[in-house]
Amino acid sequence: TYVVTENCIRCKYTDCVDVCPVDCFHEGPNFLVIDPEECIDCSLCVPECPVEAIYAEGDLPTEFADFHAINADLAKRWPIIATSHEPLPEAERWAELEGKRQFLDA
Ligand code: SF4
Ligand code: F3S
Repeated sequence: TYVVTENCIRCKYTDCVDVCPVDCFHEGPNFLVIDPEECIDCSLCVPECPVEAIYAEGDLPTEFADFHAINADLAKRWPIIATSHEPLPEAERWAELEGKRQFLDA
């Protein structure tokens, strides 16, 4: 499966969802996740994300390893998003910052 990681938090550009052939993205207040049971590993979403938040499960940087479980858990609770929309209002500012996981609204 593919996994959305920290860089998405407080940005939520949503370009990723338009290319997903199986609509496996789910949307929360300030973050998106991928449902690992639906993702078909096509990799189309990876280059669409302006902040490079999406990784193949096998390529997850160590510091983001727990995002695999975070995606699986939140995908069960959040609704599917199949069409892109405007990024969050302060996306450009947050795109530059690291250490954003503390701001994940679950
Ligand atoms: Fe969707 Fe493909 Fe990305 Fe999986 S890898 S989330 S199937 S676009
Ligand atoms: Fe998030 Fe990137 Fe998609 S910021 S919403 S993973 S395009």
